[in-house]
Amino acid sequence: MAAFARGAPLDRVVSVEAWSRPALDLDRPATLVALVHRRRPDLVIHTAAWTDVDACAREPEAALRRNGEATAALARACGENGTDLLYLSTNEVFDGRRTDGRPYEEDDSVAPANPYGRSKRAGEEAVLAIYGQARGDDAARGWIVRTAWLYGPPGTDFPAKIVAAAARAATEGTALRLVADEVGSPTRAADLAAAIVDLVRARPASGIYHLVNAGHASRAAWAETVLREIGLRVPVERVPAATWQRASTAPLWGVLGTRRAAELGILLRDWRAALFDELPRYRELAAEAQRGLEAGGAVAGSGRSAEHANGAPR
Ligand SMILES: NC(=O)c1ccc[n+]([C@@H]2O[C@H](COP(=O)([O-])OP(=O)(O)OC[C@H]3O[C@@H](n4cnc5c(N)ncnc54)[C@H](OP(=O)(O)O)[C@@H]3O)[C@@H](O)[C@H]2O)c1
Repeated sequence: MAAFARGAPLDRVVSVEAWSRPALDLDRPATLVALVHRRRPDLVIHTAAWTDVDACAREPEAALRRNGEATAALARACGENGTDLLYLSTNEVFDGRRTDGRPYEEDDSVAPANPYGRSKRAGEEAVLAIYGQARGDDAARGWIVRTAWLYGPPGTDFPAKIVAAAARAATEGTALRLVADEVGSPTRAADLAAAIVDLVRARPASGIYHLVNAGHASRAAWAETVLREIGLRVPVERVPAATWQRASTAPLWGVLGTRRAAELGILLRDWRAALFDELPRYRELAAEAQRGLEAGGAVAGSGRSAEHANGAPR
């Protein structure tokens, strides 16, 4: 969560604060309210969430509390304070059953297929309820930014898991199994951050905006592109997502359309061009994994089998 103190527009921002635990605790919504009333920011960018989708499925009430109720409390406090709020949400508010090949647009009907998606949707509804009625240039704005399939430092993201699993498969002489029927919009976190800055600068009407890199790919195609570009060769077996039983059900079609952002002149580049900028990190991770395996140790940062390589957080 980042909060911007008074002094907007963005190029004249006077200070930026990063709020995190223990001062900001999603299990204690009052902490979010207290921060807003004490610091009185012009803008809050709410990124904190419980993103472990399988754990959310096992504990849906905790998911709703952390992602839904905490967001509602924050939105109320921001609304009372006249603070703009940008809430980061997810493609998982859609069930992903669409088969017509079209992306989900901002005004398509939502139907979350899992407790994580339901909890994020509860946060969206709170923002829409509080900011939906506000009118006029002076009114505070509430934006919901849906994104998908994020990757980038410092986390153990999907490509990093794939690199670790591929290095192990190559050493063991086994095939790497990749999910071929889950399709989405791989999005580089740094590209998303730049687009969020553009959106805040444009200060459009309150509402929903999709921000993802352009184009789409299956998990398998995304993984194969990374492995090819970093020169890690390993036999691949393409399998359906249903191969693995998980507590949470991932939407099979998670592609988002970015029409509203495009109308503001905010255009994210193709996912392959964005991925290119992260390749040095994945090359380094592959070399590190190789060294670890040659020394007979575990692969750094993975600790997972290839079976879990598709289990990236949303
Ligand atoms: N990753 C994706 O592919 C994706 C896709 C669509 C939307 N999103 C959304 O984007 C946002 C960021 O996602 P991410 O993947 O970067 O998530 P992440 O790596 O799991 O980070 C989540 C952040 O929330 C904080 N957090 C978790 N539980 C908390 C609690 N109880 N109290 C206070 N802070 C808590 C974490 O703090 P600690 O570091 O202290 O744990 C961490 O800073 C989320 O809103 C998510 O729903 C992500």
